[in-house]
Amino acid sequence: MERAIELAWRGWGRVHPNPLVGAVVLDAAGAVAGEGFHGEFGGPHAERVALAAAGARARGGTLVVSLEPCHHQGKQPPCTEAILAAGIARVVFALEDPNPVAMGGAEALRAAGLAVEGGLRRAEAAAQNAPFLGGYRTPERPWVALKLATSLDGRIADQLGRSRWISGEQARDFVHWLRAGVDAIGVGGATARVDDPSLTVRGAVEPRVAPLRVVFDQTGNLPTTLEVLRTARERPTCVVAGPLLSSERAEAIEAVGARLVRSSSLRQGMAELKRQGIGSIVVEGGGQLAGALLGEGLVDRYYWIQSPVWLGEGGVPAVAGLPGAELATAERWTVVERRALGADTLLVADRA
Ligand SMILES: NC(=O)c1ccc[n+]([C@@H]2O[C@H](COP(=O)([O-])OP(=O)(O)OC[C@H]3O[C@@H](n4cnc5c(N)ncnc54)[C@H](OP(=O)(O)O)[C@@H]3O)[C@@H](O)[C@H]2O)c1
Repeated sequence: MERAIELAWRGWGRVHPNPLVGAVVLDAAGAVAGEGFHGEFGGPHAERVALAAAGARARGGTLVVSLEPCHHQGKQPPCTEAILAAGIARVVFALEDPNPVAMGGAEALRAAGLAVEGGLRRAEAAAQNAPFLGGYRTPERPWVALKLATSLDGRIADQLGRSRWISGEQARDFVHWLRAGVDAIGVGGATARVDDPSLTVRGAVEPRVAPLRVVFDQTGNLPTTLEVLRTARERPTCVVAGPLLSSERAEAIEAVGARLVRSSSLRQGMAELKRQGIGSIVVEGGGQLAGALLGEGLVDRYYWIQSPVWLGEGGVPAVAGLPGAELATAERWTVVERRALGADTLLVADRA
């Protein structure tokens, strides 16, 4: 299963909004006979790829797969059919399929006489597919991840607002990898004005669809010379503004070819993004937007890149305006990953 989950990552950037899935076929003697992963949206499922690789060796063997095999005709035929046709004797999967249309694969295989077990490394597979599962848990809004690079003292920029670069090259490569696997990349208005980021994907993974670039700014006070607005006709850009947006600013934003979402709250803005097809978004700061999103309970995952630098008084706090909590009742999140990115440290935590 560890290998199946590892294989599943190869679909990152290419399969969403479908889940990441990896599969390994063991022959009747327990040796690896074939491997596969879901590699392209609309393309063959991991099970079929692994079964094809195993060929006749699949007969009497075991299929290990990170998601319950599907039981419906979608863009691809049901995997349960392929499993039965291959003569597999036992199926071990990690995560139950939450999709009401595709679920029921385990039951169907059991009914056909196969030994079926679910739940092996379920937590790991669920963390890997958090954006996909978010679509079922909070269907009214996108799955929202917050990503910040902070100093050891929890600052995201120095006293002059400079944040390039707090983190090192490996951390920046990670961010480009992360961006490739989501539908949108967001920043707050101050970050757009100060950093003038391009919010494009420039890493090893070429996303199937370029993520929408989103700027959250209540008043829409964004110079049209900013990189994201200047290039809005080449790469999709959206401004999520509040009720204070003036008609001149609205016109200026739309005149450069950017989409405009008017909302009375961040929650409503997120809901509108979802209606427009955005199922997942990584918000990359700054501190005010991070605090506002966290305060409203709109963050599902935090990607925290911590760099060994001190920025001290006057530096921009990573999270601003988050209401205080009492320790005994404070929200505690679940750590799903921890690793070194060069001199920096990545910590990934999910809302419990
Ligand atoms: N190290 C990092 O990872 C990192 C990442 C990003 C940025 N930065 C640094 O952080 C600094 C900027 O951060 P910041 O904290 O000053 O600002 P920010 O979070 O980038 O921007 C605040 C923006 O969010 C909007 N906003 C806040 N609450 C909102 C709500 N409820 N609804 C809609 N919009 C809302 C505000 O709009 P209004 O102004 O109209 O209220 C404002 O434009 C820069 O120096 C940048 O370099 C560092």
